Amino acid sequence: MDFTFAQSVPASIRTIALPVLLDTLPPELEPALRDGAKAARFTGKAGQVFDGFVERGGAVHRLALVGVGAATEKERLPLLEKAGAALAAKYLTSGEKELALDLSNSGLSPEQAAAMLLGLRLRSWRYDKYRTKLKDEQKVTLAAVTVVGVPDGTDAAWADASAVADGVEFTRELVTEPGNVIYPESFVERCRERFAGTGVEITVLDEDEMGALGMGALLGVGQGSRRASRMLALRWQGGAEGAAPMAFVGKGVTFDTGGISLKPGPGMEEMKWDMGGAGAVAGGMLALARRKAKANVVGVMGLVENMPDGNAQRPGDVVTSMSGQTIEVINTDAEGRLVLCDALHWTQETYSPSAIVDFATLTGAMVISLGNEQAGMFSNDETLAEKLLLAGVASGDKLWRMPLAPAYDKLIDSPIADMRNVGPRQAGSITAAQFLLRFIRDGLPWAHCDIAGMAWADKAGATWDKGATGYGVRLIDRYVRDALGG
Ligand code: BES
Ligand code: MN
Ligand code: ZN
Repeated sequence: MDFTFAQSVPASIRTIALPVLLDTLPPELEPALRDGAKAARFTGKAGQVFDGFVERGGAVHRLALVGVGAATEKERLPLLEKAGAALAAKYLTSGEKELALDLSNSGLSPEQAAAMLLGLRLRSWRYDKYRTKLKDEQKVTLAAVTVVGVPDGTDAAWADASAVADGVEFTRELVTEPGNVIYPESFVERCRERFAGTGVEITVLDEDEMGALGMGALLGVGQGSRRASRMLALRWQGGAEGAAPMAFVGKGVTFDTGGISLKPGPGMEEMKWDMGGAGAVAGGMLALARRKAKANVVGVMGLVENMPDGNAQRPGDVVTSMSGQTIEVINTDAEGRLVLCDALHWTQETYSPSAIVDFATLTGAMVISLGNEQAGMFSNDETLAEKLLLAGVASGDKLWRMPLAPAYDKLIDSPIADMRNVGPRQAGSITAAQFLLRFIRDGLPWAHCDIAGMAWADKAGATWDKGATGYGVRLIDRYVRDALGG
């Protein structure tokens, strides 16, 4: 979607969108449109759209009234995003190619105007690369939005918001691509392309290098796959020189069959998005770099494919992680924690971060707990947890804090190794988090976000269509902005 700013609505544009506050239809509107809106029960609730045709100076215009809710609303930004998104949903494939959004009398601040545009952009993202036989009426037509009457300062606010949109779109792309296209090496390649010229420093470890470092847990997961595993690190140094970075770590299982503990067939195709944590970290880093965040941040992604094979690891195998701790692999389908434990340990050794937050589509149990409304967050640190929760509310990428406790930790003790990779069926998300905690240095603030219910949506939401949501990017962006001042 192409956005341009203009002083007045160009005569060439037929369709004009007007924001309408709750219960305040502009009095100067044509009576037919006012009556039509009322008859259609349009009240100006955020996200409502009513459109009709009016004649103005001999030309016919399509006028879209878009509800933006009440001006007194506390959380206005999400409502404005929703309003912008509603315009995208309505006109994306409508046949209209251009839209003018007239904010002249809207009273919106630059940040609020940018939120509306952000919603419009995010909701218009599609990935039609593999759909070669789309019918005309299914094809995207809306390509350009001319925004009129924006307040001074919208340029800067929009530059920031577009950086975040770039990140969300990159994550969605990575998550949407199938397993035959995105595998560890091609994930790295896609990042190399996307980060070229951004100032982000890229480090990649291949299997030999990971082997030399002793990453037996991660490599054990990947050993049944023809695709080579990779560790990918993206480093953004926008803060003070020498200051310890904030670290984000992502689970990047580019396809999860379950391995020898094979998953059932129905729905297995969904496991192409088992790299959603790594996708969020990559997109988050892109957003930070594009908006030149004033913080030092490193994003680390453990990239593997989990396949059954003659060379795959077996249930009962014991592997040694880079930390030296040994793990009895009871279930090869509990592979995410095996990937993350080496990624987390390596991140601590290599970057000495001030804090670590990991993102992972880790457990089906998380989806049972919280559904598709918020991700589960586990933390050993009250301050970090509190700031993440706030960033969740502010960004719309919501989190709910889940417990950790020694009694849960006991459940993953093993008779043959230091731990087993699964506990009993009960508290499956918590024992997974306890497993990760065993790889965090004493005193280092750490949080784990289990995003299994959030990376993918079966139905459209406020700012996404069904499919990849881009969850996590905005949370990362918000956290860095608000908690780190970046
Ligand atoms: N990637 C899955 C978790 C998952 C399931 C994410 C459904 C999104 C939707 C993970 O690797 C997995 O298979 N977890 C197992 C753990 C179990 C074997 C202890 C699970 O949740 O069933
Ligand atoms: Mn699995
Ligand atoms: Zn998995």
